[in-house]
Amino acid sequence: MVSLTFLGHACFLIDNGKHRLIIDPFLSGNPLAKVKPSDVQVDFVLLTHGHGDHLGDAIEVAKRCQATIISNFELATFCSGKGVEKTAGLHIGGGADFPFGSLKLTIAHHGSTQGSELGYGGNPVGFIIRTDGKIIYHAGDTGLFLDMKLIGELDKIDVALLPIGGYFTMDVNDAARAVEFLRPQKAIPMHYNTFDPIKADPKVFVNKIKHFGVEGIILQPGHSYNLG
Ligand code: NI
Ligand code: MN
Repeated sequence: MVSLTFLGHACFLIDNGKHRLIIDPFLSGNPLAKVKPSDVQVDFVLLTHGHGDHLGDAIEVAKRCQATIISNFELATFCSGKGVEKTAGLHIGGGADFPFGSLKLTIAHHGSTQGSELGYGGNPVGFIIRTDGKIIYHAGDTGLFLDMKLIGELDKIDVALLPIGGYFTMDVNDAARAVEFLRPQKAIPMHYNTFDPIKADPKVFVNKIKHFGVEGIILQPGHSYNLG
């Protein structure tokens, strides 16, 4: 069984019973996070891009857990320069097999540079994650793009994790259109209500995607959804 736990903002924990993955572990400094970085025990840390609300506590968590950071090449290089022993720096359109299954990087329309220390953080990405026969798409921070149709054609997505907060990413309307393009089994909204500019009502999103026959699941931080 694969369980998906929302840890606030764009952070999710995926557990297939054997391996644990965390995506975008922004926990300290996240007003909605229910978990401390020191509570996290994972084998892999996936990063969609280098912004502070995604890179977050990744380096600390990866070092303590001896976890592998998976991200774009530039960000992986930055993390290994910070003392993370195991990194996998892939790039958009590329993928690889991992003990939990496999993973592929998709495009995301956004930025990835943050401050002078990280400098150029490469291109932002989304992830197609295959584990235990399930397919999860984490869109990262992105605007709406028509290639989501292709992403939905290439893989039968069980759960799509989509930003709905607007301002930096898709808003509720664009995220609903993304669901129309992707045709996932279920969609879970993320990247909203953490900060004032990204206030959004996830119920509006859930109602909109009913038109496409897709069930929206609103997860409160700390709550899980089981993919079966
Ligand atoms: Ni961002
Ligand atoms: Mn963000």
